[in-house]
Amino acid sequence: QGGDAALGETVFKKCMSCHAAGEGATNKVGPVLTGVVGRAAGTYEGFNYSQAMKDAGAGGLVWTPENLAQFLAKPRDFVKGTKMSFAGLAKPEDAMNVIAYLASLSPP
Ligand code: HEM
Repeated sequence: QGGDAALGETVFKKCMSCHAAGEGATNKVGPVLTGVVGRAAGTYEGFNYSQAMKDAGAGGLVWTPENLAQFLAKPRDFVKGTKMSFAGLAKPEDAMNVIAYLASLSPP
């Protein structure tokens, strides 16, 4: 997708208060993000998602890079009712890079 995974690892620091990713990652305030690219929304085992996120996944939302970019720009606009209290990434390139970083991590 043109994102830079190394730059994205730095962007991911903004997510780490709530999310872990990579080897040995466990659910925190937010779900594990290893393998999230290509995953159906609201489906990581053992995480207590909002009803909105579960409904989005049941309705067919898959975390493609395009959908992730839109979600990360304005999480609460893209999934209305989400409990992810994060304002969003103002710069599209930050989203592109963090998506490339997440895509570079192999699933658990
Ligand atoms: C959900 C990414 C920052 C809390 C999610 C999901 C993604 C994501 C892709 C959906 C996962 C799934 O469906 O399995 C990110 C990225 C971040 C970030 C890339 C940084 C740029 C944060 C922060 C917090 C947070 C800072 C806490 C303040 C949550 C929570 C959910 C969630 C609670 C579950 C939402 C729900 O069930 O409605 N995040 N996140 N995230 N995130 Fe984040």
